[in-house]
Formats: sequence, structure tokens, C-alpha cells
Amino acid sequence: MFANSTPVYSTQADLHPDLSHHVQRALDNDWQRPIAEHTRTAFEDARRFYQAHGGPLILDAGCGTGRSTRQLARYYPNACVLGIDRSADRLSRDYARELGAFPDNALLVRADLVDFWRLAHLAGWQPVRHCIFYPNPYPKASQLKRRWHAHPVFPVLLALGGVLELRSNWQIYVEEFACAVHQVTGQKPRVERLPLGPDSDFISAFEHKYFDSGHTLWQLQCPLETSISKAPDLRRDPT
Ligand SMILES: C[S@@+](CC[C@H](N)C(=O)[O-])C[C@H]1O[C@@H](n2cnc3c(N)ncnc32)[C@H](O)[C@@H]1O
Repeated sequence: MFANSTPVYSTQADLHPDLSHHVQRALDNDWQRPIAEHTRTAFEDARRFYQAHGGPLILDAGCGTGRSTRQLARYYPNACVLGIDRSADRLSRDYARELGAFPDNALLVRADLVDFWRLAHLAGWQPVRHCIFYPNPYPKASQLKRRWHAHPVFPVLLALGGVLELRSNWQIYVEEFACAVHQVTGQKPRVERLPLGPDSDFISAFEHKYFDSGHTLWQLQCPLETSISKAPDLRRDPT
């Protein structure tokens, strides 16, 4: 069932020529889209869980069905792990029979990341790890703005700090992301192949599927400083 995923196809053979322009626009402009009420409510639930649990915070941004959230909770039993996704359908899939009870140190939250990241930043959260596993690649050149590194929220997600980890089966996505991190922070993250084998502990179903389909998988890991000097005032609540 797993091994039939087609590799990402794009007419874009290199980094998008407009990338730097979009990153600069995100840095220069205070993004004011109002925060949706449903994400405020979801954020409050997450805040209560985090307060009750304590410990270092790990964000699993775009967690899908939450398999990776379970894995992270298992790898870091003393941490508080929040898996965030906007898809109620994905989040509601019940893997309890297959994978056991959901870990006590993790919570799945239905929210739009664009707003959740801004609320987390306003609340002064500082995750120790921030994972973005296999984001939608939006591989058409015309879709650049939908990739996280060209989105207006990008400086905010970097300002949260922690060790940022991105994985993708599209090398250009990861290379562009690294380039955008460099533009915002001055740091130069390394892009590497993920050293996976058939017996690896795959972080998610997407990762497993891509591996079994023979895709090369790419990773970026970057310890971020929390004060991003070039970023505009990111702490205003746009309501
Ligand atoms: C390709 S899936 C990868 C899921 C998971 N990380 C994995 O590796 O299996 C991308 C996920 O990002 C979520 N997503 C995309 N944009 C989002 C947004 N603005 N807010 C929250 N989730 C989002 C989608 O719902 C989807 O579950």
C-alpha cells in the first residue's frame, strides 16, 4: 500500500527567483490579518495543557494524524509536545489500537498554524524544538507564497526559536527554506539527506510512504536564536 507515491514534480529547477523579495516583504511589513477566534480558543486549550504539564516545549507543526507527535513524545518523555494541524479529519484518526494509548505528555490541537504561531509568539513561548515534517510543497512556481518560507508568517515562526527541524521529499523546498532562514537570521543551516534505512523509526506515515517509494528525503536542522534583529515588531496582536 505504501510504495506508490510519485516524487514531487515541478517546472522549478532551482530556487525561486522571487524568494528573497517575499522574505524581505515579510520582514518589512507588519502583518495584520486578524487572528481567527477558533484558533484563539484552541490556543487557550493548548496553553492550559502546557501550563499543567510544564517541561520543555516541543511543537510539531502540521502534524497530520499525529503519529510524529506520538513519536516525539516517546523520544522526549519529559517534554510537553503539541501537535498542531488544521485538518479535523486527519487529527481524528484513531490509532490507539495500532499504536497504543496517546501519550500523556502530548496534545493534538486543531488550529491554523498561521495564527497559532503568532499567538505562541505573543505569549512568549520558546519551544526547545520546532518540527515541520513534510509540509505541503506547493511545487508550482506560482505557489511560492504558500510555502512557509515565503509566507508573511515566516519571521514569526523563526522568532519562536529552538532547534528548528524541517523535512521534505522536495530538495528545492528545503534549500529555499535554508536560504530564507539565512536572509532573516544570518544563520546558514545545512541541508542534508536524511539517513534512513528500511529498519528506521519513521517519524510519520508520509515519511514511511516516501521512503518506500524510493524518494530521497531531505532535512534541515537549525538552532535558532530567539532575538531576530531584522524582524519588525512581531509582538503586536492584530485584532
Ligand atoms: C503533507 S501533510 C504532512 C503531515 C505530517 N507532518 C506527516 O509528516 O505525516 C501536511 C499537513 O500540514 C497541514 N497544514 C497545512 N497548512 C496548515 C495550516 N495553515 N495550519 C495547520 N495545518 C496545516 C495539513 O492539514 C497536513 O496535515
